[in-house]
Amino acid sequence: MHAAFYSIIVMKTKGIILAGGSGSRLYPTTAVFSKQLQPVYDKPLIYYPLATLLLAGIREILIISTPRDTPYFEQLLGDGSQWGISLEYIIQSEPKGLAEAFIYGKDFIGQDQVCLILGDNVFYGKLDFLRKAIAENTGGTIFGYHVQDPERYGVVEFGAHGEVLSIEEKPLKPKSNYAIPGLYIFTHDVTEIAPKVQPSARGEVEITEIHNAYLRNNQLRVELMGRGIAWLDTGTPESLLEASTFIHAIEKRQGTKIACLEEIALQMKYITREKYLETVNNLPKSSYRDYCVRVLDEIERESF
Ligand code: G1P
Repeated sequence: MHAAFYSIIVMKTKGIILAGGSGSRLYPTTAVFSKQLQPVYDKPLIYYPLATLLLAGIREILIISTPRDTPYFEQLLGDGSQWGISLEYIIQSEPKGLAEAFIYGKDFIGQDQVCLILGDNVFYGKLDFLRKAIAENTGGTIFGYHVQDPERYGVVEFGAHGEVLSIEEKPLKPKSNYAIPGLYIFTHDVTEIAPKVQPSARGEVEITEIHNAYLRNNQLRVELMGRGIAWLDTGTPESLLEASTFIHAIEKRQGTKIACLEEIALQMKYITREKYLETVNNLPKSSYRDYCVRVLDEIERESF
């Protein structure tokens, strides 16, 4: 009993969304504002990773982005109080690699554990695996997801008994089909490891070097995500369209919305019914607002 209570206290987890990068692969769509602000069907892309963190129980979140885009994110998401969370922003002057998130985020992380999610990663499905991984993490936890084209990602190599042998960034000859999604959990010492990472051949401080540092210390866990979770790519015009089509198909069939932050905040009890009504009343007339109104009615009618 005491041990469980203690672990809840020490395992406080903060979130970071890395939403930098020029998004050049989506040019000219990204000529004026970033990829993570582009729509995935009916809401901006960043809503999806933000929803993932909220559903994982994380309420203190730092958003790191470019000098150009940070003001847009602030305009879009504000300080988070409308959803009962806290959002902070830091400008990354020049994108030099994902591992920089832990350098920029050092003060924000402090002595807490951190869950980093890339602002262009969309997850759909039951997030129990994430909540469990956060609760059980004692060093670094990353995930493995079976894909057809692992060479586009960080890739895990497993030994005969399922042990992790290596982690490689975009290998020409991948040693498995297990790509590493942009969702990572680290203890606070990641802020000490990140500044020591040397830039790769492409001049970036790679996140996979952080994974390897934990692996060398026998502190890396790789959890397989399983087929019940959809991890969608948004890196190319085609994959962005496919992500929109996927979200549309499910929302249309179920009559629900994926990553509706107001609904999640209410369901997670981050805001009261009164605060929810205040937040929804401030939304412009739209199908999104209509949905928020309907959801409250449904929750109150079906208390099962
Ligand atoms: C980054 C990481 C890679 C990871 C991927 C997930 O790649 O470097 O290890 O698998 O995100 O989206 P990038 O998006 O920078 O190509």
